[in-house]
Amino acid sequence: MFNRQREWLPRSHKYSPLPTAARSRNVQAPVSTTWTEQGRRHAIMKLAMVGVLVVVALFPWPAMRQQSPPTGSCDTALHGFTCLPEISHSWGQYSPFYSVNSDISRSTPKGCEVTFAQVLSRHGARDPTASKTAIYSALVQRIHDRVTDYGKGYGFINNYNYTLGADELSPFGQQELVNSGIKFYKRYQHLTRQAVPFLRTSGQNRVVESARNWTQGFHQSRLEDKLSNETDAFPYDMLILPEDEGFNNTLSHANCKAFEDGPLSSAGDEAQTAWLQIFAPPIAEKLNQNLPGANLSLTDTIFMMDLCPFNTVADTNGRISPFCGLFTRDEWNGYDYYQTLGKWYGYGNGNPLGATQGVGFVNELIARLTGKAVVDQTTTNATLDGSRDTFPLNRSLYADFSHDNDMVGVFAALGLYNATEPLSNTTKASPRETKGFSSSWTVPFAARMYVEKMTCDDAADEELVRILVNDRVIPLQNCDADTLGRCKLSRFVDSLSFARAGGNWGQCSA
Ligand SMILES: *[C@@H]1O[C@H](CO)[C@@H](O)[C@H](O)[C@H]1NC(C)=O
Ligand SMILES: *[C@@H]1O[C@H](CO)[C@@H](O)[C@H](O)[C@H]1NC(C)=O
Ligand SMILES: *[C@@H]1O[C@H](CO)[C@@H](O)[C@H](O)[C@H]1NC(C)=O
Ligand SMILES: *[C@@H]1O[C@H](CO)[C@@H](O)[C@H](O)[C@H]1NC(C)=O
Ligand SMILES: *[C@@H]1O[C@H](CO)[C@@H](O)[C@H](O)[C@H]1NC(C)=O
Ligand SMILES: *[C@@H]1O[C@H](CO)[C@@H](O)[C@H](O)[C@H]1NC(C)=O
Ligand SMILES: *[C@@H]1O[C@H](CO)[C@@H](O)[C@H](O)[C@H]1NC(C)=O
Ligand SMILES: *[C@@H]1O[C@H](CO)[C@@H](O)[C@H](O)[C@H]1NC(C)=O
Ligand SMILES: *[C@@H]1O[C@H](CO)[C@@H](O)[C@H](O)[C@H]1NC(C)=O
Repeated sequence: MFNRQREWLPRSHKYSPLPTAARSRNVQAPVSTTWTEQGRRHAIMKLAMVGVLVVVALFPWPAMRQQSPPTGSCDTALHGFTCLPEISHSWGQYSPFYSVNSDISRSTPKGCEVTFAQVLSRHGARDPTASKTAIYSALVQRIHDRVTDYGKGYGFINNYNYTLGADELSPFGQQELVNSGIKFYKRYQHLTRQAVPFLRTSGQNRVVESARNWTQGFHQSRLEDKLSNETDAFPYDMLILPEDEGFNNTLSHANCKAFEDGPLSSAGDEAQTAWLQIFAPPIAEKLNQNLPGANLSLTDTIFMMDLCPFNTVADTNGRISPFCGLFTRDEWNGYDYYQTLGKWYGYGNGNPLGATQGVGFVNELIARLTGKAVVDQTTTNATLDGSRDTFPLNRSLYADFSHDNDMVGVFAALGLYNATEPLSNTTKASPRETKGFSSSWTVPFAARMYVEKMTCDDAADEELVRILVNDRVIPLQNCDADTLGRCKLSRFVDSLSFARAGGNWGQCSA
C-alpha cells in the first residue's frame, strides 16, 4: 500500500505489458526498500493513524543558516524560480516545475493585501514508479541485445546503463521543494514572517519527504528574514494522512470503487491509446530506422521518450539527458498532449467521477476560507476534521502535499478548467487552446496551486478569492470573476455547489 503506482500507470489493461495482478493501481509493486525504510514508514503511519500531530523530528538535518544558496534544480531564486530550458516544458507531468506564463498579472493587485494563502503541492521529481523502472530497464537491455548498428546521434545508447531507482524523490526533486518553500515564504512574506502554515501531507514516502524539504526552504527564508518573529520550533508539526485503502484521505484517492475499479478507470488510457495511434507512428519509425533490430512498438516509443525527463531529473543539476535530443519540438508537443489526455480523462473534467475525487479537499478549503466547520460526506475524516488540533480553522496559512492525480481531481472539483472544451483524442491542442489545461502546465513535478484571499481598498465590503496554478492566474468560473480572475468569497463558495452537494459520490459504490 505504500508503493502504490501513482502517476501514469495505465488504468486499463490493454497496453500494459505487466501481468494482470500487477496492473491494479493498488497492488503493491515489487519495489526494493530496506527494512529500516519500511519500519520507518510503519512507525510514521501508526502515529498518524491515531490522529496524533506528528512532530517530524525523526530526520535531523544540519542548521540552515550556514547553507549556501540552493543549487541543483533549475528553479532557484537566482533564476526567478523557473526551469529555463524550454524543452523541459513539454514533458507532461514529468516536466520539472517551471513558472507558467500568466495572462493576468500574478502579483498581488495594488491596494490589496493577501490575508490567507493555501498551497496544495505535488511532490518533487522522483525516480520512475517501480513497474516503470522494470520496463525501462528491460527495454534498454533489449536494445543492447538486438542493436549492433546505432544510427547517427544514437550511439550514446550503446554506452548507456540504466541505473534509475523506483518511486523515491531524487536530490533534484528535494531541491525543487526547498525552492518552493522559499518561494512561498517570499510571496506571502507579511503572513509567513508571523506564522508557520498548518501542514498536512499524504503518507507516501516521497510526499512526506517533499513536505519536509518544503519546510526547510520556508524555515531557511524565515531565519534570513530579519523581520520575522522566528519563534516557531523547527522542525514544524505536520499531520501525515495514511494512504491505506479505507482511510479517508482528501489528499489521496482510493475509496471510490467505481472510479478505482469500474469501466471509468480506463478512460484516460483509452483516450491516450487513440492519440498514440496518431502521433507516435512516425516517431517509432524514426527510432526503428536508427536502432535497427530493436523493433520498438508505439508503447515502447513513449517509454523511450520517458527516458528523457527521468534521466534529466535523476541528475542532481537537472542536466538535460541526451535522450531528449532524439525528439523534435513537435514530437514533444505530441507527447505532452498524450500525457494531458491521460490526466483529463483519467482524473479531470473528462472523467464523470474525476471531479468527485477532489470534493473532500474542496469542502475542507471552503471551511478554511470561511472559518466554518467542514461539511462533507465523501473523503474527509470527520474525526480529524472535527478537531481543532488536526483541523484548525483560525490560520492564515495552510500547506498540503499530495500527488498529481489528486490535484487534477481538486482542480476539477473547483471547476478551474470548466471553460476548456472536451479534449480531442485525435487532434492535439496547445495549453493555450485548452484554456490552460495541460499536464505540464498543471501538474509538473513540484506543481503547486495557491488559493489566496485578499482584502482591497476599493472592495472593502468583502474579501476576494483568487487561484494560481504554477504561477498562472486561472480566472474563477461561474462566480462573476473580475478582470483579474477574482470572485467575492461568498460568490466563490456559491459556485462550488458541486462540491458542497458531495459531487457524484453516490455513484462510487455502483
Ligand atoms: C479517521 O482518523 C482517525 C484519527 O486518525 C483514525 O483513527 C480513523 O481510522 C480514521 N478513519 C477513517 C475512516 O479514515
Ligand atoms: C556501463 O556498465 C559497463 C559494465 O558494468 C561499464 O563497463 C561501462 O563503463 C558503463 N557505462 C557507463 C556509461 O557508465
Ligand atoms: C531534504 O530533506 C532531507 C531530510 O528529510 C535531507 O536529508 C535533504 O538534504 C533535504 N534536501 C535538500 C536539497 O535540502
Ligand atoms: C509577530 O509580530 C507581529 C507584528 O510584527 C505581531 O502582530 C504578532 O503577534 C507576532 N507573533 C508572535 C507569535 O509573536
Ligand atoms: C476521448 O476518449 C475518451 C475515452 O475513451 C472518451 O470518453 C471521450 O469521449 C473521447 N473524447 C472525444 C472528444 O471524443
Ligand atoms: C516486432 O514486434 C511485433 C510486436 O510488436 C511482432 O509482431 C513482430 O514479429 C516483431 N518483428 C520482429 C522482426 O521481431
Ligand atoms: C469516511 O468516508 C465514508 C464515505 O464518505 C463515510 O461514510 C465515513 O463516515 C467516513 N469516516 C470518517 C471517520 O469520517
Ligand atoms: C487558534 O486557536 C487556538 C485555540 O483554539 C489557539 O491556541 C491559537 O493560538 C489560535 N491561532 C491563531 C493564529 O489565532
Ligand atoms: C464545473 O462544471 C461542472 C460540470 O458541468 C459543474 O457541475 C460545476 O458546478 C462547475 N463548477 C463551477 C465552479 O462552475
